[in-house]
Amino acid sequence: MPDNVLIAPSILAADFARLADAARAVEGAADWLHVDVMDYHFVPNLTIGLPVVQSLRAATTLPFDCHLMIAEPARWATQYAEAGAYNVTFHAEAATDPAAIAKDLRSAGSRAGLAIDRDTPVEGYLELLPHFDLLLIMTIKAGFGGQAFMPELLDKVRTARRHIDTGHLELRIEVDGGVAEDTIAACAEAGADTFVAGTAVYGAEDPATAVRKLRALAV
Ligand code: DX5
Ligand code: ZN
Repeated sequence: MPDNVLIAPSILAADFARLADAARAVEGAADWLHVDVMDYHFVPNLTIGLPVVQSLRAATTLPFDCHLMIAEPARWATQYAEAGAYNVTFHAEAATDPAAIAKDLRSAGSRAGLAIDRDTPVEGYLELLPHFDLLLIMTIKAGFGGQAFMPELLDKVRTARRHIDTGHLELRIEVDGGVAEDTIAACAEAGADTFVAGTAVYGAEDPATAVRKLRALAV
């Protein structure tokens, strides 16, 4: 069970006309703000990009956890680091040289995350983990919020957790997709320590209370 849980509400489930309010609504309760960047190429959905991240950066004290669901991360990822993101995660499926991008991200001042989508086995990426600060295991197919959690994908979390612990690696395991009050404990038990939640936070009456409830269920 993790003893250093981080909760990262995803603004994908917030009102896009009030993103600054959505960020402030979880200040003091959440650890990071998860920002889903989609480009209509890597995934069949289009969300927000660099100008929104730059504007929102000035509106909240929460660290940004940018999740790039985009093609050509080698071309774009460092710009999110330069915009002040605390962590920038890109998809393994979109990258030809993930370690090189991680190095560029760290040089640009952010932490580096590697994301593994629903249909990608994690085994092929375990050797790359020393280059990263975070491994994001999708618990849905990337592209849309509000999808049903897929418990079978937690096998990848277990595999990664074993590898990280036996290799004494220092990185977080983040789960993303369908994480809610009824699923977060299973994620924690599998070895995740960082939890993205969109609908479960911004679909709730009080987002900050929802974050606190999730945290209590993950420890
Ligand atoms: C989906 C995004 C998720 C999304 C999760 O591709 O990566 O971060 O916001 O939303 P929920 O928590 O509603 O599944
Ligand atoms: Zn995400």
